[in-house]
Amino acid sequence: MKEKLIEILSENLPELGREDIAAALEIPKKADMGDLAFPCFKLAKIYRKAPNLIAQDLKEKMEEKDYDIFSKIENVGGYVNFFFAKEQFAKKIMEKISEESFGCSDEGKGKTVCIDYSSPNVAKNFHVGHLRTTIIGNSLYKIYDKLGYHVERINHLGDWGTQFGKLIVAYKKWGSKEEVEKNGIAELMKIYVKFHQEAEKDDSLNDQAREWFVKMEQGDEEALSIWQWFKDISLVEYKRIYELLGMDFDHFTGESFYRDKTQDVVHKLEEKNLLEESEGAHIVSLEDYNMAPCLIMKKDGSSIYATRDLAALFYRKDTYHFDKCIYVTGLEQKLHFAQVFKVIELLGYDWYDQLVHVPYGLVSMEGGKLSTRSGNVIYAEEILHESISKIREIIEEKNPDLEDKETVAKQVGIGAILFNDLYNQRIKDVVFNWDKILNFDGETGPYVQYTYARCASVMRKSGEISITEDIDYSVLTDETTMNLLKDISRFPNVVKDAADKFEPFMIARFAVSVAQHFNKFYHDCQINVEEENIKMARLKVVSVTMKAIKDALELLGIECPQQM
Ligand code: ARG
Repeated sequence: MKEKLIEILSENLPELGREDIAAALEIPKKADMGDLAFPCFKLAKIYRKAPNLIAQDLKEKMEEKDYDIFSKIENVGGYVNFFFAKEQFAKKIMEKISEESFGCSDEGKGKTVCIDYSSPNVAKNFHVGHLRTTIIGNSLYKIYDKLGYHVERINHLGDWGTQFGKLIVAYKKWGSKEEVEKNGIAELMKIYVKFHQEAEKDDSLNDQAREWFVKMEQGDEEALSIWQWFKDISLVEYKRIYELLGMDFDHFTGESFYRDKTQDVVHKLEEKNLLEESEGAHIVSLEDYNMAPCLIMKKDGSSIYATRDLAALFYRKDTYHFDKCIYVTGLEQKLHFAQVFKVIELLGYDWYDQLVHVPYGLVSMEGGKLSTRSGNVIYAEEILHESISKIREIIEEKNPDLEDKETVAKQVGIGAILFNDLYNQRIKDVVFNWDKILNFDGETGPYVQYTYARCASVMRKSGEISITEDIDYSVLTDETTMNLLKDISRFPNVVKDAADKFEPFMIARFAVSVAQHFNKFYHDCQINVEEENIKMARLKVVSVTMKAIKDALELLGIECPQQM
């Protein structure tokens, strides 16, 4: 309201800047003197008139324009006092936030965003780091979708590279079909570790591994069928996690998808004279940009991670015609993406500035095993199940008669992990502390979900009454209610900001803030009262709060149980 008043005053007093007006506004000593007062003393010099006359003129001029945000404008001495039409204000906000499409926009209409996220490495465990990219990427997808963008969700599986040569050697030497089928990725990791131990003693194993990878690149049938099997086995485990999280992708186009497209990258670089030989390998020098060179082709002619990322970019541009291509990975890949984006720029493509790396910090366990960059030991699936079972215990203890406990335990257990990953800026490290994550009174997923369930319970208890359309807004003008409504009204700006900065934490903060404001409202403003007009109006506030919380959690990928 203050902002609006400043705007109106600056229209009427073009000689003054917005800052001057903002600085001059005062809150009157007594409430019956209005909500804000504007002193005209300093204007005497400019207008060469007595302050009380200026105030009187200003008042009359503004009254004539009949602004609907004021219920009354008064002039006392050199002051103009403004009384806000709170009822009008409450009505406006309520109408706005009740709209089905509140928070949506069409800024993305006709535009496409590719989001490359999750992307675990085949034959390796899906660790808590991959959980983070999955959670952040999924949230960005929902946010961009809300703003009207068409989004392509891409899982760039790490399913190609020399490590598969090693794995084939290891499997042929020490593996067994039964064990791999029985234990899946864990078994593949076991023989992979053994490979490294043995290769320390016998370097010829490394040569064999390289040969197998070259065979893979040349399309050798045996090599490819073993590799495909490893991949299928891994995908079963990954998809189990995605299902648990309720998340999906449009494309599982991993690195292998680009194996016949890397030669074209080499041609493009050669055409522009960008490729240099260095110790037998082929690189793009980035010395002028203070970066290590970007390796394109190894001595034996095989491609590497960066080559496949370049190939993927050409493919995505040609296929999806993206306006933005976003990569969600750990901070340690910062240089890699800077190099890839630079190479695109050097090749002369003006869309290099549509490429965005969205990095995030490390995940660790408080007082427990730590996940380091090199050896992420915490399995995502274990963490998710542990969270669900801890919530199950809490429910058994606090609300044993709850209907459909298993579904609720899953929604809250998963929600708690997601919320914890999204509550701070991406770049901040995430620490797992079960007491904090699962605290129903903290700034947590369960707290927000609990607030939602509380709203749902209020609505249930109010019986079958349907809220009438003509609400008496005059009963919603108390400070607590107005603060709640104002808080909710921020939603469209929050969504837009979160998209611009690639920061879902803004949505998470919004959800907590609305929940806190609601709980104050719930405490201060009794809902189930005799007066029908008050009851109706307050129930309507409960219903818009529910919608706001649900919409916000939806953008984080979190579900809202009706009872907890
Ligand atoms: N597989 C990689 C990893 O686990 C992440 C891939 C990210 N995406 C990409 N296009 N490079 O670290």
